[in-house]
Amino acid sequence: MAGIVVVGTQWGDEGKGKYIDILSGDSDFVVRYSGGNNAGHTIVHEGTKYKFHLIPSGMLRKGKTCIIGNGVVIDPSVLLMELDSLKKQEIEMAELLISDRAHVIMPWHIALDTLQEEMRGKEGIGTTKRGIGPAYADKAERCGIRIGDLLDADYFREKVYSNLKIKNAIIEKVYEGNPIDPEKVIDEYLGYAEKLKPYITDVNSIIHKALENSKVVLFEGAQATFLDLDFGTYPYVTSSNPISGGVCTGAGVGPKMITDVLGVMKAYTSRVGSGPFVTEQSNEIGDKIRDLGHEYGTTTGRPRRCGWLDLVMLKYSARINGLTGLCINHMDTVGKLDNIKVCVAYKLNGEVIDYYPSNLKELGRCEPVYEEFESWKDVDISKIKRFEVLPESAKQYIRRIEQITGIPVKYIGVGPEREQTITM
Ligand code: GDP
Ligand code: IMO
Ligand code: MG
Repeated sequence: MAGIVVVGTQWGDEGKGKYIDILSGDSDFVVRYSGGNNAGHTIVHEGTKYKFHLIPSGMLRKGKTCIIGNGVVIDPSVLLMELDSLKKQEIEMAELLISDRAHVIMPWHIALDTLQEEMRGKEGIGTTKRGIGPAYADKAERCGIRIGDLLDADYFREKVYSNLKIKNAIIEKVYEGNPIDPEKVIDEYLGYAEKLKPYITDVNSIIHKALENSKVVLFEGAQATFLDLDFGTYPYVTSSNPISGGVCTGAGVGPKMITDVLGVMKAYTSRVGSGPFVTEQSNEIGDKIRDLGHEYGTTTGRPRRCGWLDLVMLKYSARINGLTGLCINHMDTVGKLDNIKVCVAYKLNGEVIDYYPSNLKELGRCEPVYEEFESWKDVDISKIKRFEVLPESAKQYIRRIEQITGIPVKYIGVGPEREQTITM
């Protein structure tokens, strides 16, 4: 039995999609367990770039099974668009299955996400405006609509009317927005249901059978530890649990079935949207990292905020997720800088602290304690296949990350392509 979780250790966009694509070669199933189309996972294979938002990143592997788990919130129009685009490219794809328990993102969720963000103004979260927060809020409120509900037209119709009675009142009376026409929504979504019907099933029994039969199941994380609803920089987080524990509720497997937890990280830090960022470089260093790493959002195209690697965050991530290995990306990018800083501790009121503050005001007052490293800008590492061949300064960088986090490095990314990865 092998249940391997691939989880983001920072604020997302660490390159999780790349590792799912790589590891899916030796796996049987790939299961997305949280988030929605706020995620953007990039795979570069033989020079072609593929961007996945809802479809698991194992989809390029024919003969494998990709599953969208119950913990995901699904915008059916986005899912169908992604499927169509893969079909148009005539790619030999994996099989796709969707949990009947996954919640649906409805037009009112997208409308409310946008209206709420506009009303928050400068205090906004900087959401992707894809309806993620309102969809998860309705799941907790117990008025959400599940993918399985779309297959029963009468029941679905009732749910749309009962939801819109309240949602339209909020949209019109609180936000002075335009009401949503229930009949239009019913027509549109029943059309999606017809197309998605062949994929919808009770995926939980399939996942369990796979694990019982010693198949390799990959659990694909979206977002990341510091965007986690409970353990991230609340309220500047997403509305789900992207951490490894999210697999238990988002795919319905017990913790004993998880055998490995791989934490994906960049050799620096990036963040999209608002919220604190202790090692942020709002200066020419941050601009240089953004340029070198092409740091623009896969989903929204927004420029990502960039800064130095923060090992205080990584230590916290290692603990919260129970990491068994690290995958470090963008060693090629960081190596092109003149020299490199890594934050190894935080000082608060002049004292080194040994925890990650939950209080954002306290976090905002934390000062990073840096160690400085030589870069390897004279060596192009993008074609290197073995650790031993890396420049000494790059090896030292990796060893120090292992030393401070206490987690062994399993993979090193030296470029975006599937093949630009060193296996330890
Ligand atoms: P995800 O959301 O965690 O899957 O990550 P994204 O796909 O949003 O962002 C990661 C970006 O970094 C993508 O554009 C990847 O192609 C790229 N990438 C991944 N690993 C490396 C690496 O080692 N070096 C470089 N230069 N780019 C990488
Ligand atoms: P992947 O899977 C980076 C951020 C948004 C915003 C906050 C809340 O590609 O790593 P939401 O729309 O979820 O309510 O927005 O979370 N965010 C991400 N940032 N990568 C992601 O996913 C993200 N998904 C959400 O920018 O700050
Ligand atoms: Mg991304």
